[in-house]
Amino acid sequence: MSAAISFEQVTCAFRSNVAGGSTYVAVSDTSFEVQQGEFVCVVGPTGCGKSTLLNVAAGLLSPSSGQVKVMGQALQGINARAGYMFQSEALMPWRTTLDNVKLGLGYRQIPDDQATAMATDWLARVGLAGFEDRYPHQLSGGMRKRVALAQTLVLDPDIILMDEPFSALDIQTRQLMENEVLDLWAAKRKAVLFITHDLDEAIAMSDRVVVLSAGPATHPIGDFVIDLPRPRDVAEVRSDPRFVQLHSQIWDVLREEVLKGYAQQRQGRGAT
Ligand SMILES: Nc1ncnc2c1ncn2[C@@H]1O[C@H](COP(=O)(O)OP(=O)(O)OP(=O)(O)O)[C@@H](O)[C@H]1O
Ligand SMILES: [Mg+2]
Repeated sequence: MSAAISFEQVTCAFRSNVAGGSTYVAVSDTSFEVQQGEFVCVVGPTGCGKSTLLNVAAGLLSPSSGQVKVMGQALQGINARAGYMFQSEALMPWRTTLDNVKLGLGYRQIPDDQATAMATDWLARVGLAGFEDRYPHQLSGGMRKRVALAQTLVLDPDIILMDEPFSALDIQTRQLMENEVLDLWAAKRKAVLFITHDLDEAIAMSDRVVVLSAGPATHPIGDFVIDLPRPRDVAEVRSDPRFVQLHSQIWDVLREEVLKGYAQQRQGRGAT
């Protein structure tokens, strides 16, 4: 069985907008795979290239060199097998909750009554039955994230790409949503590539944690199997002795990169 996503020696360089400006190599020679049905978290310091890698997997950005394979096929253009939950809010403010969830179904030419039924069902699954006619500004931040989740999952993608989806939420809401994502994932076992800078979140949710170095030329510097039993409760699993052990092993690798990334941002390096 081929991997759901395989990054093969991916390098991403960005050219400066300024005439005569330099080139910034954000990601360099990065290779790793996400197997079908596997939940992989990528952690790394701020600004290291996590969203860049996800954009490459989504087909929104072509690597400068190397390639991505999706289910064994070289990716060209947009990744039609993947659903993408962005780091920033991506709901359309002028559309109701229901119409936001229906958006992708419309692009796939699904008849309107069928799309309404599917979107209504997904809104109920993420706990938003009765909120179909609300606009995004009439929802809480957590509710808006639930709408975005329904919007992604209603398309039943084989691969789910999530970029720090819950980082703006308070810790309680965040843990509730993390558990919901794990329940939904357990039911269908899609491949998930989940980006976060939060090591606790990464260990609690995933089968594997890939650690990225600080930029420039970010690349994986660790790959850890998370052998904690499932089903997991993300709050409770944190007190499991194995969780504590894994956390300390991974933090040993990540700590220095976080400090480097922070120092670079303070010095304004990494700006192109
Ligand atoms: N389109 C672009 N043009 C120029 N530089 C870019 C572009 N996209 C990203 N970069 C640079 O590449 C580096 C990695 O950015 P990226 O957004 O992937 O980081 P990140 O790890 O997702 O950060 P964060 O944790 O803050 O979300 C940064 O230095 C950023 O300035
Ligand atoms: Mg990012």
